[in-house]
Amino acid sequence: MKKLNIAVVGAGIYGKNHLDAYTSNPNVNLVAVCDLKKEITDKVEQDYQVKTYNDMEEMLKSEEIDAISVATPDPYHKDPVMTAIRYGKDVLVEKPLATTSADAYDIIEAAEKAGVRVMVDYHKRWDPASIAVKNKLADAGTGKPVRGYMRMDNVYDVAINWLNWSSDSSPVHFVGTHCYDLIRWYMGCEVVQVYAVGHKGILQEKGVDTYDSITAILEFENGCTWTVENAWILPNGFAKADDGCSEILCEHAMIRVDSQKRGVEFFDDQKQYTPNICFIQNHNGRAIGFGIDPLNDFVDCILHDKPFVANLNDGLEAELIAEAVHKSADTRQVVKIERR
Ligand SMILES: NC(=O)c1ccc[n+]([C@@H]2O[C@H](COP(=O)([O-])OP(=O)(O)OC[C@H]3O[C@@H](n4cnc5c(N)ncnc54)[C@H](O)[C@@H]3O)[C@@H](O)[C@H]2O)c1
Repeated sequence: MKKLNIAVVGAGIYGKNHLDAYTSNPNVNLVAVCDLKKEITDKVEQDYQVKTYNDMEEMLKSEEIDAISVATPDPYHKDPVMTAIRYGKDVLVEKPLATTSADAYDIIEAAEKAGVRVMVDYHKRWDPASIAVKNKLADAGTGKPVRGYMRMDNVYDVAINWLNWSSDSSPVHFVGTHCYDLIRWYMGCEVVQVYAVGHKGILQEKGVDTYDSITAILEFENGCTWTVENAWILPNGFAKADDGCSEILCEHAMIRVDSQKRGVEFFDDQKQYTPNICFIQNHNGRAIGFGIDPLNDFVDCILHDKPFVANLNDGLEAELIAEAVHKSADTRQVVKIERR
């Protein structure tokens, strides 16, 4: 079978997972990696024995590439994605597709014109817990969903120490879009309007100019109303870097998911850890888990011309909601979702 020649653009914290996924996939040749920072590409060359570049166009001109996998920071997805499209390459892009709907629409228009396919890595759709919820909601006995709650937060460290671009993103773009995407997937319909309130000041005092926390109410076409909360100020002493839970009240069922109940706990002299055991594990030298599955799915969908689980429209819809949530939190007004 033909192998897919993939190049990764952006090899920071999450791009490394792309490298682990593709080097574990027997249907992929990881042909090259590009990052703006030489210290990063030097380390990638050493760890993965792969050709690296600090200029994406130079890489595209020099290598035989079928598809590009983009893991640049949230606000800087558009340039590498548009460059890949211009060279006629299929693309896997990290969530969120973009941090403005204008960028998302530009990407969609360019991809349609060039006839290339773009998948968005909304990896929570591959989490076994989310799949169980989706299947339970599809069960006729569950009845109509009436009310939902979802929370996804990160510890301070994520905004302050992990990401040097957190002022150009927000808890809404970074984790909120995961929630909006998952809820749309559960509901099978779109958001009509949102109302949001947020808190600012704590992160700003620490040099990160964004919201500490935002609470949003989303009204869906099916009449179900969701409350979604996202914060970047969970204490660093928390047992993992993120926390999340959801609860859905339906006509004949109640569904509850808690990311702290994955069943494994570690303890040392400092604290307790509750690793997300389903996310990414190294197993016998291979990367496995729901953080890796979407990247393997991308390869499978391109090689066998199958539809993506999370496509460009999904990327756009999550961004339309994120933009409306920010606008509502800024203005304290209900914001209707306007689509072009
Ligand atoms: N960190 C996480 O836990 C996590 C989880 C899921 C998804 N993501 C997503 O992955 C993306 C990357 O996040 P991250 O945490 O790896 O950020 P990061 O800052 O650790 O890494 C981003 C890398 O991209 C490089 N870069 C920036 N612009 C570039 C360009 N034009 N060309 C080539 N390289 C470029 C930077 O030098 C940096 O090394 C984000 O969209 C984020 O939302 C991150």
